[in-house]
Amino acid sequence: MENPKPDDIEVRQVCAGESEELMVFLLAHYYPEEPLTAGTSPPEPEAADKEFLLSNVPFGTCFMALQGGRIVAAVVAGPKDSHEPEHMAEEARRHAGGKWGRILHLLSAVESATDVCRRFGVPSSLHVHALGVDPVVRGRSLGARLMTAVAQRARELGHPLVSVDCTSVYSARLVQRLGYQLVNTLRVIIRTLPEP
Ligand code: ACO
Repeated sequence: MENPKPDDIEVRQVCAGESEELMVFLLAHYYPEEPLTAGTSPPEPEAADKEFLLSNVPFGTCFMALQGGRIVAAVVAGPKDSHEPEHMAEEARRHAGGKWGRILHLLSAVESATDVCRRFGVPSSLHVHALGVDPVVRGRSLGARLMTAVAQRARELGHPLVSVDCTSVYSARLVQRLGYQLVNTLRVIIRTLPEP
């Protein structure tokens, strides 16, 4: 298949009513490769995980890239404030025992260590929860375009910061190229085992 040119691709906000299409995209091109989801058994994301991502759509802080009407990239972001470390710890406890609980347990540890609102003395941050690009159009800076759209939206909404927990080396490189400051690194060594 011929790769689309970057100019063929429109980036715009995800509207209310487009959650289903967004989730279809995330299930195809985000969840299967995002290292935390892929590295935590079982492979499929839990309903609570998907509900959490979609709960960000009404904030008007999620964006997608479309090529010929087809979603080829998406970013899910939402606001957080200085209570986020306590909130995340509570959410991790609430979902303990399942895949989402294990993911939240790790993300909660990251949140406590970074605590960006208190660290930078700001009331809020627009936090990027998920970023995915269809492999067919990777390497065309679509991830960067979506992160730029989130930053523009953060300015419009009065959030002084944009934060992101990069779980993949590609996303980490991408945001560092955009000038993001690294405030914490968590090294996780995993070994996936075959099903018994
Ligand atoms: N595997 C192999 N190569 C990759 C990948 C990948 N997953 N991602 C990017 N690359 C390559 C590109 O092909 C490109 O190579 P080139 O310079 O030789 O052309 C180079 O890395 C730079 O690509 P970018 O334009 O920076 O990356 P892009 O925006 O296309 O995609 C992204 C980056 C979104 C992280 C993508 O890898 C992806 O969707 N991964 C799956 C989901 C995921 O892990 N998301 C990030 C988790 S963190 C979070 O969501 C907050």
